[in-house]
Amino acid sequence: MSVMDIEKKIKDLTAELNHYNYQYYVLADSLISDYDFDLKLKELEALERQYPEFADPNSPTQRVGGDITSKFKTEKHRWPMLSLGNTYSQEELFDFDQRIRKIIGDQFEYVCELKFDGLSISLTYENGLLKKAVTRGDGTQGDVVTNNIKTIRSIPIRLKEGDYPSQFEIRGEIFMHKSAFLRLNKEREENAEQTYANPRNFASGTIKLQDSAEVAKRPLDCFLYFLYCDNRTNLFHDHWNSLEHVKSWGFHVCEHTKKCNLLADVFEFIDYWDTERHNLGYEIDGIVIKVNDYAQQEDLGFTAKNPRWAISYKFKAERVETTLNTISYQVGRTGAVTPVANLQPVLLAGTTVKRASLHNANEIARLDLHQGDTVYVEKGGEIIPKIIGVNLEKRLPDTTAFIYPNSCPECGTTLIRQEGEAVHYCPNETGCPPQIVGKMQHFIGRKMMDIEGMGDETVETFFKKGLLHNIVDIYGLKDHQEALQQLDRFGQKSIDNMLAGIEKSKEKPFEKVLFSLGIRHVGETIAKKLAQHFKNIDALAQASTEEIEGVQDIGRRIAESVKEYLDNPIHQQQIISLRNYGLKLEIEEREIILASENLSGKTFLISGVFADYSREQLAELIESNGGKMLSSISAKLNYLVAGDKMGPSKLAKAEKLGIPMINEQDLLDLIHSK
Ligand code: IVH
Repeated sequence: MSVMDIEKKIKDLTAELNHYNYQYYVLADSLISDYDFDLKLKELEALERQYPEFADPNSPTQRVGGDITSKFKTEKHRWPMLSLGNTYSQEELFDFDQRIRKIIGDQFEYVCELKFDGLSISLTYENGLLKKAVTRGDGTQGDVVTNNIKTIRSIPIRLKEGDYPSQFEIRGEIFMHKSAFLRLNKEREENAEQTYANPRNFASGTIKLQDSAEVAKRPLDCFLYFLYCDNRTNLFHDHWNSLEHVKSWGFHVCEHTKKCNLLADVFEFIDYWDTERHNLGYEIDGIVIKVNDYAQQEDLGFTAKNPRWAISYKFKAERVETTLNTISYQVGRTGAVTPVANLQPVLLAGTTVKRASLHNANEIARLDLHQGDTVYVEKGGEIIPKIIGVNLEKRLPDTTAFIYPNSCPECGTTLIRQEGEAVHYCPNETGCPPQIVGKMQHFIGRKMMDIEGMGDETVETFFKKGLLHNIVDIYGLKDHQEALQQLDRFGQKSIDNMLAGIEKSKEKPFEKVLFSLGIRHVGETIAKKLAQHFKNIDALAQASTEEIEGVQDIGRRIAESVKEYLDNPIHQQQIISLRNYGLKLEIEEREIILASENLSGKTFLISGVFADYSREQLAELIESNGGKMLSSISAKLNYLVAGDKMGPSKLAKAEKLGIPMINEQDLLDLIHSK
């Protein structure tokens, strides 16, 4: 291919993938299989790596995240992000309507929209490109979270061709679909990571993450619902038309929006969605009612806190009464005890509810639950049923309060509760059956050591038969052929298959082994970060809590839990045995061959094309020797690694700030200089 052909190929692939993204994430129309999409994306990635001079800075390959920022910058909003006045009643809505009529008369229309339950975001576009994304913050200023927002596929990084103004701001709501929430929360629960109470918390927790590569793994969506720009009325006269139009620029606008002339039509819209919301794939907590015409919005103006031209009508959470039969206490693999309320089955928001989580002892005490109480149950965030109170009028005369048990319901050991934590734990890690079995089941899981031919039930049977007592025993099973052959429903073929699966699992990389150990609060991502940082289990075991806490996105609680696990002599012994069986307890040799701390404390930016290395390889080289990559040129930058064909503006900026420019060889010299 000639250079011109390559440039064209990159352009065409970029446009094609942007089109698929738009069709899929905005219009929910899948034109290509995931597999073919990934193939094309990989092809584009490879071309961009080879010919970075033709890469579009807003290419679809940029949506995978990766820029790690240590702290978000805050920025003032050009137009403050106000909240809306709330109402729960028809009367108040009637008053709102009356106030409007007094100011602008009777000639106006409303636009009714769904009130999405997520977090609001302000997006600024310049010349068709997404320049920045800022959270609401305190309404006056918010966090700049552009890198994280760029991972959301339904937000265009580059607009489709159109008549958009050169600069404008558009606001909307970031949210997580219910299905993604349930799936990801389940995964977190299985990994003993903290779960989120509802999709909104999950979405906002995600946007606040420092590592945009992690954000990219959590599917978020965004509906846009308001446009701001200078001289807006030259473009549109009303809100409805602006929404219709921004769709053509590539924005995701919710289709369930209605123009209403009469308040009665507004009420009808509210009633319809109060029921129908349960069938939506995302959560809404009400309806937003806006005066359509921009000139009329201006006439109505604002109070100190809210616009006078809009209001939100909030749905009452659906609530039912039922009897609390018993409370059971479930012990998880990490020993965490979760109380669960067993209810008299009751229909709520379209499903039968039999159980509700009570979270922890504080919740039981706060609700002051008594035997046989009649409780109010709500669907918190429409998904997880929650007990929100007790109907005291129906309390039975001689009933007694539920008392949180002192000892483990499974093994009788006295429960402990760490300072500052709400959860009780059973400390009998090596003697409490659900913990022992749960830990082994976690270890063999698909995302952990992925042992073929061995399932949860097998683990349970082997435990009951005394063949397995802990994760190390799994690797000793090959020496118990006879005992295995005596088990019912376990033919030689299954045994061979399982033993082969166990053998094969020894190839799993260190980060997987670390994750599989089942250390409390250490999920897949945290395990990866720890493995990459400490390189081997010994370095991790020797690190102080402070050093562990120094790793990106790792907090005190996780650091303490890792320390406690590795300080335990039982675990130390298990780790020695696993090492003797040949499991990988350090990252692969080739990955660390060049590793040193020689670039520690230094920051780098790579620009241009290089003779011997790709930019990714150079970045890897820098990071594996302790250096840190920055995403833009600023006074904080120590070295600009400059190749051929570097952009003139970058060159000028670096020269202006007096940042030293080095080539590939200089970088290698710097690494080897000590
Ligand atoms: S309009 C001044 N439309 O509700 C106009 N807001 O309390 C402000 N929200 O902060 C926003 N769905 O986060 C608007 N269709 C919708 C909305 C919506 C959800 C949120 C938004 C805002 C809050 C208002």
